[in-house]
Amino acid sequence: MKKTTVLSAALLASALAMPAAAQMSVEDQIETRQSAYQFAAWNMGKIKAQAVDEEVEYDEKQIAAAANAIAAVANSGMGTLYSRDSANDRADDTRLKPNFFDELDKVQEIAVSFAQESSKLQEIAASGDKAAVARQFAKVGETCKNCHDNFRAE
Ligand code: HEC
Repeated sequence: MKKTTVLSAALLASALAMPAAAQMSVEDQIETRQSAYQFAAWNMGKIKAQAVDEEVEYDEKQIAAAANAIAAVANSGMGTLYSRDSANDRADDTRLKPNFFDELDKVQEIAVSFAQESSKLQEIAASGDKAAVARQFAKVGETCKNCHDNFRAE
């Protein structure tokens, strides 16, 4: 676990430092990350409706597919979609706050826990235990909220 954390943090740091982000326009970075989060949110919504609110009948396959999709987003190396020029003091149509780039240690910590908690949700969803899925869903949700509270503008 420890090793993975250090590795992921290092990968994110290098992704942020690398000119890879410059190959994509700022507009494309913004659109791509917004779509990725929307896609994650759509899948979180399915899990919430079935495992937490229980307003839709629990379907193990749908839940496993949703958890796979969230884990894929979380582990996709989104760091390359964040260039300094894509923050809301320099770019339009984005809610990314510029302090993101002053607090990269915190960003890394949150990104790593987003990836780890999502991967855990993926494992739990595969076993189909609804109560356990609901508990782990909450943990993933905390990582979303933590990042938004710190780095997403109102
Ligand atoms: C590492 C930080 C981080 C994590 C983790 C994160 N988000 Fe976000 N999210 C952001 C930022 C920053 C924006 C604003 C992006 C922009 O406007 O360029 C955003 C935007 C969004 C949006 C709006 C997208 C749009 O169309 O403008 C949704 C919905 C969203 N996030 C949902 C989620 C959900 C659900 C999760 C967890 C499963 C999550 N986010 C995890 C940072 C994060």
